[in-house]
Parts: sequence; structure tokens; C-alpha cells
Amino acid sequence: MSRLAQKVALVTGAASGIGLATALRFAEEGATVILADRNEALLEKALAEVRQISEGHRAIHLDVTVEDRWIAAIREIDSAFGRLDVLVNNAGFGRFRSIADTSLEEWRSTLAVNLDSVFLGTKYALPLLARGGRGSIVNMSSIRGLVAGPNASAYCAAKAGVRLFTKVTALECAEVRNGVRANSVHPGHVETPLTAPAYANADIAEEFLRHTPLGRFGQPKEIADAVLFLASDESSYITGSEITIDGGITAQ
Ligand code: NAI
Repeated sequence: MSRLAQKVALVTGAASGIGLATALRFAEEGATVILADRNEALLEKALAEVRQISEGHRAIHLDVTVEDRWIAAIREIDSAFGRLDVLVNNAGFGRFRSIADTSLEEWRSTLAVNLDSVFLGTKYALPLLARGGRGSIVNMSSIRGLVAGPNASAYCAAKAGVRLFTKVTALECAEVRNGVRANSVHPGHVETPLTAPAYANADIAEEFLRHTPLGRFGQPKEIADAVLFLASDESSYITGSEITIDGGITAQ
């Protein structure tokens, strides 16, 4: 119950799915959680859920693609708490179209939400993460950041970018000995509000599960448990690394 005791953690995309599951797990383990999302209505509901576990948490309305909003969010966290121990860059989404059917605008917006966001969050949170001397950054990539799939060019490019950006972050932090670690997480097919409409289609579900050795979809909590490990001091010698949570898909 206290694996994150005394830690302050910022989770982006915390209003839904994997981000919400992470916020809940963090609160259960004693962290003070700052839930950030661009969807204000969902964010308020999520904050109420987390507050049923304990008090002290707060919500920040944040579009992770907007630099000024990141600057303001970090300033708000600094003045409210004076510290930040964990940053989970989780907000993201994918559009699935062929390269021919992808407009430049769609390409750029997919990279903005999934990759620019990680750069901005890291850049502006790092001084505060370094202040405590034991910071942890967990970036949400995907198996699509490890292996390609058709009709996912922008998403694959973004998530693969997250993987190597994370390793660069880890090396830069190690070089200056600021105590901050950075790792990426690579989920496979996880049942969340993002994927539920697709998985509700029996043909699509069957096709995905045929390629999943464990024969079922992952649940948000199963991703949150790995994020919790990387966020906690239990993973103190792990940096620049990645955890794949995909029911065996990429083992084949
Ligand atoms: P979700 O749609 O349930 O939750 C994503 C949250 O991010 C939503 O609350 C949404 O409002 C927020 N968000 C989106 N754009 C934002 C922006 N610009 N600024 C702030 N918040 C924003 O999605 P899910 O499935 O929980 O996905 C979370 C992360 O996990 C994403 O990065 C996704 O790419 C990744 N992922 C998900 C997988 C899955 O099967 N569900 C598989 C692999 C990776």
C-alpha cells in the first residue's frame, strides 16, 4: 500500500483507460496524483474516482501538444507541491489509414499528440524531477514502437520515436547524475475506451486475438502495474529500458 509513499506523480491522459488505471494504482500505493487531460468533463470524473481512495490529488486541464500549457502546468505543480517525483507521459491516440490516405495534417497531429508531448513533458518537468534526486519518467509507447503494422505509419513513427527519445533522456540524465530515470512501456492490445469500438467488432477482435498467444486482450490495470514498478524505487537500477506487455505478441 505504500510503494509510492511521499511521491508526487503527474499522469497525462489520466481521464481514461491506461492513464486512469495508472492514476488509481498510484493513489492506492500512497502517491499524490496530478491527473492531466484535455477532456475536462472526463477529468473531473476521474479525479472524483481517485479521491475515493485518498485526498490530496488534483486535476490539471492540459493539452499535451501545447508548449505554454506545459510551462503553466509545471509552474502550478511547483507552487502547489514544490516537487515532482514521477512523470507518466501517457496521452496518445492512433489513426489507422494507409500512407496514401494519410494527410500531412493527420501525420503531424499524430506525431504531436504521441511524440511532441513526450518531448515537451520531459523538457519542462525535468528540472522539478531532478530537484528530488530520485525522479522517474515513464513514457507510453506501444508494440507499434517495436514492430510495424500496416496502416499505422504516423502512429508507428511516433511510438518508435518515443522509444529512442526515452533512451536519450535516460543517458542525458545519467550523464549529469541528476537521479532521474526514464523508461518506456509497450502495450499490445488493451481494452480501453480508445480500442473498445474496434474490439466490439467480432471479426476485428478475432483477428487480433489470433495473433495474441495469451488469447485475450490486456486490461488497463495490467499496464498500470508495470508503470507502477517503473515509477517506484523498486526499479532504481532500471533506466533507458523498456517493458513490453502484449500477451506474447512480439515473442513470435
Ligand atoms: P484512452 O483514449 O482511453 O485514453 C487516452 C486519454 O488521453 C484520454 O483521456 C484523452 O482525452 C487523452 N488525450 C488525448 N489527446 C490528448 C492531448 N492532446 N492532451 C491531453 N490529453 C489527451 O486511450 P488508452 O487506450 O488508455 O491509451 C493510452 C496510451 O496507451 C496512448 O498513448 C496509446 O497510444 C497507448 N497504447 C494503447 C494501447 C491500447 O491497446 N489501448 C496499446 C498500445 C499503446
